[in-house]
Amino acid sequence: MTKYRSGLGWDSHRLVAGKPLILGGVKIPSEMGLEGHSDADILSHAITDAILGAAGLGDIGMHFPDTDPEWKDADSRKFLARAEKLACDAGFMVVNVDATVILETPKLSGHRDAIRKSLAECLKLEVNNCSVKFKTAEKVGPVGEGKSAEAQAIVLLTSKY
Ligand code: C5P
Ligand code: MG
Repeated sequence: MTKYRSGLGWDSHRLVAGKPLILGGVKIPSEMGLEGHSDADILSHAITDAILGAAGLGDIGMHFPDTDPEWKDADSRKFLARAEKLACDAGFMVVNVDATVILETPKLSGHRDAIRKSLAECLKLEVNNCSVKFKTAEKVGPVGEGKSAEAQAIVLLTSKY
């Protein structure tokens, strides 16, 4: 089996009033939040896809369909933990995660430590192997206009054997 495998993930959800903004399992104080079937945690979704992709195990919709009532308002850390377990069962372990959240407002840098800790706990990683970065879209496009937010992630897996 190949020793190292990388995987890429991306997600985007609409920003609406009256929904919570949850990123990496952390609730961020915000007037606008993310809309979706689950808790719409784009960061957890992007990392879940990156893990599944690296392990060659398909994508988030294949394992956790958004038509399934089990995942209605679900805590997306469940997806992350299950993806990690699936990768583990396939003979891999997560080496590190790097991710970017693109959101115009609010500022997220004050929540970086909490988000990294939450993700690291979920993925059984050291915090320093779990990186999260934040960007605006400079007021351009749907993200820049505050209509949506995006997350991108890359994950490295190593074979356990
Ligand atoms: O998008 P921009 O390059 O202006 O972002 C500058 C910095 O602002 C980022 O490196 C990040 O530390 C911070 N930021 C943030 N929360 C956001 C967007 C950016 O803390 N929603
Ligand atoms: Mg999603």
